[in-house]
Amino acid sequence: MPATETKTEEPKTPAPGTGHQGQTFLVGDDVYIRAIEPGDSAYGQSWIRSILPRSTKRYEKWIKEEVAKAKRQATYIILRKTDDVAVGSITTRRWDPITQVTPWVDPLYGERGQRWLAQALGMAIPWLVDEQHRPIVTVLVAADQKAVSDQLNEIGAYETVRFREMLRAWGGRVDLVQFEYLNRHWVDRLGDPRQTPLERSGTGEPRPVPAPVTVDGEPPANAVKVGQRVYLRPIEKKDAAWIARWSRQETETFWDAGRWIYSTQGFAAHETDLQKKEPQTSVHFAVCLRENDELIGTMGLDGIDYVHGFAETGSAIARPEYRGGGYGSEAKHLLFDYAFNTLNLHALQSFVIFPNTRSAAALRKQGYKEAGRLHWDFASFGKFENFICFDLLASDWRQMPRADFPAVEKEFHP
Ligand SMILES: CC(C)(COP(=O)(O)OP(=O)(O)OC[C@H]1O[C@@H](n2cnc3c(N)ncnc32)[C@H](O)[C@@H]1OP(=O)(O)O)[C@@H](O)C(=O)NCCC(=O)NCCS
Repeated sequence: MPATETKTEEPKTPAPGTGHQGQTFLVGDDVYIRAIEPGDSAYGQSWIRSILPRSTKRYEKWIKEEVAKAKRQATYIILRKTDDVAVGSITTRRWDPITQVTPWVDPLYGERGQRWLAQALGMAIPWLVDEQHRPIVTVLVAADQKAVSDQLNEIGAYETVRFREMLRAWGGRVDLVQFEYLNRHWVDRLGDPRQTPLERSGTGEPRPVPAPVTVDGEPPANAVKVGQRVYLRPIEKKDAAWIARWSRQETETFWDAGRWIYSTQGFAAHETDLQKKEPQTSVHFAVCLRENDELIGTMGLDGIDYVHGFAETGSAIARPEYRGGGYGSEAKHLLFDYAFNTLNLHALQSFVIFPNTRSAAALRKQGYKEAGRLHWDFASFGKFENFICFDLLASDWRQMPRADFPAVEKEFHP
C-alpha cells in the first residue's frame, strides 16, 4: 500500500501500468491476474466469455449481482501489465474433488492473446493445485490453441480427453481437448488414477442402426420420434409421479454415485424450467413403449451448443426390468435422429462412471467412440472415481450399417 494511504481509506485507483505493483503472486512477464473489480465492466466485452454483445451497464449489473452471488465459482481477470487493460479471464468451478478452469482471452488479440492466456494459466493452475491444495484441475481448450497446450504440457498438465470436431472454427472444425493437472501429494497418497484398470462388459461391437419406422395409421399421441418398440415424446407433468415412485424402487446401486430419490414436485419443476429456458439448452424426452404407451424412462440432450453444434446425451431407463434388453439403445437412435437430423448437431458427447460397464457397453454398441478418461471426479468407497468419455459424430452415425427389420436383436421378456 502506498505510504499516503491509510488502512481506513479506499485504495486509490492505480496509475495505468502500475496495477500489479505490490501484488506478490500471479504476476507474470506480460500479464497478471486478480479478482474482479467494479470498473472492469468497461472492458467486459473483452474478458467475459460471451459471443453476444452486451452493454457496459449490463456487465456492471452482472458483476454486482451475479458474480457476487456465485457459489463455488470464481472469476479472475487477466490484465496486461503495461496498461492494466483486462484482456481475458479464468473462471474456476469447484465440485470436490475437481476444480474446472474455463480460460478465455479476447480473440481480437490473436496470437499475442494466446500467449497471455498461456502465461496466465501457467501461473493460475499451479497456484490452485500446489498452493490451494485442490486435488485436480481440469481445463478445456480448443486443439488449435497451441501456445496454451504447450504451456499446459510444460507445467506438467496432460491431455486426457479429445472430443473430435466438437468446435466450429474458421469454417472448419477443431477438436476440444481436456487437460488435467494432478496434485502430486494426492497422487502419492491415492496412487495415479491413470493406472486404474477399466472393467468392461458387453461385446464392445457397434450394431446396425435400426431401420426408420413408417407409422401405419396414427402415430402415438404427441410423439416426436417413433421406433419399432419405443417412441420419444415430451416429458409431461404427470410423468413426475412415476419417476419419483420408480426412483424409490431402484434396485441397482452401481450406475451412479448411489441411488437418488426424486420428489414429484422437484422433478416436475426442474423439467418445466428446462422447457421454459430460451434458448432451450436441454431437451429431455419420455421414452414410452409403443404397445401400451407406458413410460419406461427418460433420455435427452444437455448443454446444447447451437453455435458449435454439439450436446451431451444422457439416458435412464427408470425400470430395471427393461434394462439390458436393447430398449435404451433403440431409444438412443431415435435421439440421434433428433440430434443430427432435427437439430442438425455435428457431434455428441457422453460421460460414464467406470463402474457402469453396462452403459459404456451400450454406448459402444450405439456407435460412440472412446474419447478419453476424466479422473477423480467424485468420491466412491474411500477413493475418487473416474469417468470414461465418449463422442459420436453425425458422420459416424450416418455411415453406420443400417439394419433391416426386425431391429430387435434377441428375444427379451421383461
Ligand atoms: C444405460 C442404459 C440406458 C442402456 O440401455 P439398455 O437398453 O439397457 O442397453 P442395451 O441393452 O442396448 O445394451 C446393454 C449392453 O450392456 C451389456 N449388459 C447388459 N446387462 C448388463 C449388466 N447388468 N452389467 C453389465 N453389462 C450389461 C449388454 O450385454 C449390452 O452390450 P452388448 O450388446 O454389446 O453385449 C440402461 O441400461 C439404463 O438406463 N441403465 C440405468 C441408468 C444408466 O446407467 N444411465 C446411464 C448413465 S451414464
